[in-house]
Amino acid sequence: SRILLQDTSAVPTSPWTHFVMMAGSTLRKVKSRSWKKQRHFRLLEDGMTIWYKSRWAGKGHSTFSVTEVEAVREGHQSEVLLSIAEEFPADLCFTLVFHGRQGNLDLVADSPEEAQAWIQGVRKLIHKVQTMDEKERLDQWVWDWFQKADKNKDGKMNFKEVRKLLKMMNVDMNEDHALHLFTMADKSESGSLEIEQFVHFYKILTQRDEVWKVFQDYSGDGEKLMLEELENFLMMGQQEGERSAQLAQELIDSYEPSESGAMSLDGFQKYLCSQEGSIFKPEQRDLHQDMSQPLSHYFISSSHNTYLLEDQLRGQSSLEAYIQALKRGCRCVEVDCWDGSDGEPIVYHGHTLTSKILFKDVISTVKEYAFKASDFPVILSLENHCGVEQQTIMAEHLSQILGDMLLTTVLDGQVPQQLPSPQELKGKILLKAKKIGGLEDCIDETLTDEVSDEEEANGDAESPSAEDPPAESLTENDKVKPRKSKSKLSKELSDLVLYCKSVHFHGFEQARLHGKCYEMSSFSESKAKRLAKEAGTDFVQYNTRQLSRIYPSGLRTDSSNYNPQDMWNVGCQIVALNFQTAGLEMDLSDGLFRQNGGCGYVLKPDFMRDGNTQFSPEKPEERPDYKPLRLSIQVISGQQLPKVNQKEGSIVDPLVRVEIYGVPQDQAKEETSHINNNGFNPVWNETLNFILHTPELTLVRFVVEDYDKASRNDFIGQFTLPFTCIQAGYRHIHLLSKDGTPIPPSSIFVNISISELT
Ligand SMILES: *[C@@H]1O[C@H](CO)[C@@H](O)[C@H](O)[C@H]1NC(C)=O
Ligand SMILES: *[C@@H]1O[C@H](CO)[C@@H](O)[C@H](O)[C@H]1NC(C)=O
Repeated sequence: SRILLQDTSAVPTSPWTHFVMMAGSTLRKVKSRSWKKQRHFRLLEDGMTIWYKSRWAGKGHSTFSVTEVEAVREGHQSEVLLSIAEEFPADLCFTLVFHGRQGNLDLVADSPEEAQAWIQGVRKLIHKVQTMDEKERLDQWVWDWFQKADKNKDGKMNFKEVRKLLKMMNVDMNEDHALHLFTMADKSESGSLEIEQFVHFYKILTQRDEVWKVFQDYSGDGEKLMLEELENFLMMGQQEGERSAQLAQELIDSYEPSESGAMSLDGFQKYLCSQEGSIFKPEQRDLHQDMSQPLSHYFISSSHNTYLLEDQLRGQSSLEAYIQALKRGCRCVEVDCWDGSDGEPIVYHGHTLTSKILFKDVISTVKEYAFKASDFPVILSLENHCGVEQQTIMAEHLSQILGDMLLTTVLDGQVPQQLPSPQELKGKILLKAKKIGGLEDCIDETLTDEVSDEEEANGDAESPSAEDPPAESLTENDKVKPRKSKSKLSKELSDLVLYCKSVHFHGFEQARLHGKCYEMSSFSESKAKRLAKEAGTDFVQYNTRQLSRIYPSGLRTDSSNYNPQDMWNVGCQIVALNFQTAGLEMDLSDGLFRQNGGCGYVLKPDFMRDGNTQFSPEKPEERPDYKPLRLSIQVISGQQLPKVNQKEGSIVDPLVRVEIYGVPQDQAKEETSHINNNGFNPVWNETLNFILHTPELTLVRFVVEDYDKASRNDFIGQFTLPFTCIQAGYRHIHLLSKDGTPIPPSSIFVNISISELT
């Protein structure tokens, strides 16, 4: 049978857009106001690869696969295109946005029709990629490799070329064995493989012994799993419990290609490699939590210095950074505002060489992207360094640009006893900033005379330029020191602050006696960490009523991140991370917020929502319903791990490490030994064991590395998820790259068991 991808009739592209893209167009590639160069773009015959080169120059050309493209934005939707808006109208302009942290491609067509052909055409191809099943994805992946290796584009490959391609694919195999398989696949005995034959060759190569063994354990005749046998596998192997019978039938319907009514090895492997067979419980992936509890009962996906794309001293401030964060489901973004020279407030990292953007452009971008990834409320955390005049302009921009999205009155006209819920605030943008007086004053106008006293009493006298004050010494009976100079706040801006009024923190005792649910404080990472250690239970209780925001140390000028787990352990909601910096900390954040539909809100465990809770992360065994678990992970095998070192002839020596993040007692790491020279189908068969004292707070990170005895191991891929989302049994873990994008078909295969500790 012909493989799917050649069959362009299956591509839901109208002939017209496809024709234009195949014929090719001259588009301007734009990097800046002055850098605009013509390039010839066309879609290659595979219907998936876009090729482009400078029109006149020699051989050099570039290609990218549509699988790398995340979205197409129409019009002036990037800073670069905005900067040339006067020269080129919006209907000629579009932006290709790539997955991960790869830069955008800004393009200008000669006519609106041509622009539309590319915009619609690429969108349709992206849609096609997104709706591919695992098998189609694998075929696409093999196909992409074939294209890459077939230098003279004759659609054929001899044994030598195939061997070279296998090296590129991280496969190192015995030459005799490879030649044997090659000969088997070369049915026409032409000495070379065509694409379909190559796909067949690849399939023989990737047969999985370890999957076959599991299949054998449950199959009576070794050929197929009868319905009851599959049910037994789901019950015993996959711990699916009561739903096993129904699931068995569903799996045969979805994954078995034949009409036999039983499951073949092919269908079985297809199921195991699917999302359904993956380690992540499908029902936890979707929005499933109660969204009607007070905001303080949720962990909220939050970013720090959102406007920065790079480091904090010289980096670029960019609207793009807001788009990226909001599209990842981030629900609290930061806006650092300063007086602009021509009366327009600007956003940048004050007193540094970071570039500047206009406040009003930031707000327009937020409006555009706030609710694309999630309907639940977005908090704008204002770090306000502006004078009163420009603060008033900020208030005007906020009201005018955001309109109905901006929350401007309290719900029900009542002074709240607890914060409203994400559900009640759906589609709303909230302002977090300093405020004159309390909510009581907004509601009862007769109280306005007492505003200044109220402000003193609440200690809300942060100087406008010190939102991130240095960590100060803290004692529970710290008295509020009367301040001489009053912060200068614009009434208009202050009035827009409702449920997130910034106040100074004066100890847990003070907060317990006088704190209001709508008052929130910011803590530096070191202060939060100290409080978590010294007064864990107080912190957990405080966080049941009020929001707290944690920010990275000012010393992290490289935009590195702190470990957010320490803060989640005491129930801090807004644990702000530098989203632009990939690595462990962002893996944890992505891991936590991957559940609940990626909506940016995750309900805290119940023992962190009760105001009288006695929970302390330092003493998890003192919890009334303390029930430790044993997590046992048999790391069986790996599949098609990517090559990290592009050097010719180098093959990875992979190992798997499982890392546990949670309360201090649960923190642990265990790793397998490394397998020499096999990134293609390494088998480990090693079991790693862990004890979890607070499984509700635990995140599990699977990391694959290339062992290097002389220096640090190289990172290959990872996947992080909450322990509560793990399905027991034989599961695949689909790996992500350093910046969090999928790298199919790389995976690891594990056998997980979870039991009570007795
Ligand atoms: C892995 O374990 C399985 C079953 O426990 C066994 O059959 C297989 O031979 C082992 N493979 C290796 C490479 O150790
Ligand atoms: C998978 O785990 C279960 C439960 O621990 C165990 O009984 C089974 O033997 C394991 N499978 C293999 C192939 O070792």
